[in-house]
Amino acid sequence: MISIVPNEQRFHDFIRRLRNNPAVAAGFVETVNITPEQQSDYMSRFGDRYLVALVDAQPAGYIGSIDRDIRICVHPSYQGQGVGKALIDAIMEKFPDSYARIKTDNKSSISLFEACGFHRAFIIMTRENRQEVSQKDE
Ligand SMILES: CC(C)(COP(=O)(O)OP(=O)(O)OC[C@H]1O[C@@H](n2cnc3c(N)ncnc32)[C@H](O)[C@@H]1OP(=O)(O)O)[C@@H](O)C(=O)NCCC(=O)NCCS
Repeated sequence: MISIVPNEQRFHDFIRRLRNNPAVAAGFVETVNITPEQQSDYMSRFGDRYLVALVDAQPAGYIGSIDRDIRICVHPSYQGQGVGKALIDAIMEKFPDSYARIKTDNKSSISLFEACGFHRAFIIMTRENRQEVSQKDE
């Protein structure tokens, strides 16, 4: 069973390790290696803008909306079960004016947001060697 709960300190290291996980790195523009200290600092500022998905009481994914910009990740073991959709529905209730910036090659994320009723509103173009520009996110 999927439940979406507020972020708490006990989830901070789950979020950090999932964001650092090489198995999900391709979905994000930035490859990161967040230290526990960096995470602690970040969560003290933005932790209340995150939600966590539990599947049978185990942390399975997270979503955050910072300056309206969504960041989402579901652990590979729990992908394809509706966790991402549940997270997006919940964050849009909390922060209704949020949006997503997605790499053009991230087909699963594009499909997910489209399935949640999002549409393409603008295009970001860059001369850098990447498909879209994003902020360094968690
Ligand atoms: C993108 C991501 C969050 C999707 O999470 P998820 O829990 O697997 O998504 P859901 O199970 O809720 O899928 C909901 C819908 O999204 C679409 N979708 C999700 N994954 C998909 C995939 N791999 N291929 C095609 N469509 C996909 C489908 O329409 C799906 O509905 P359906 O199962 O009824 O067909 C997850 O793959 C992920 O964490 N990826 C790595 C990090 C990342 O890319 N984050 C996004 C950065 S913008």
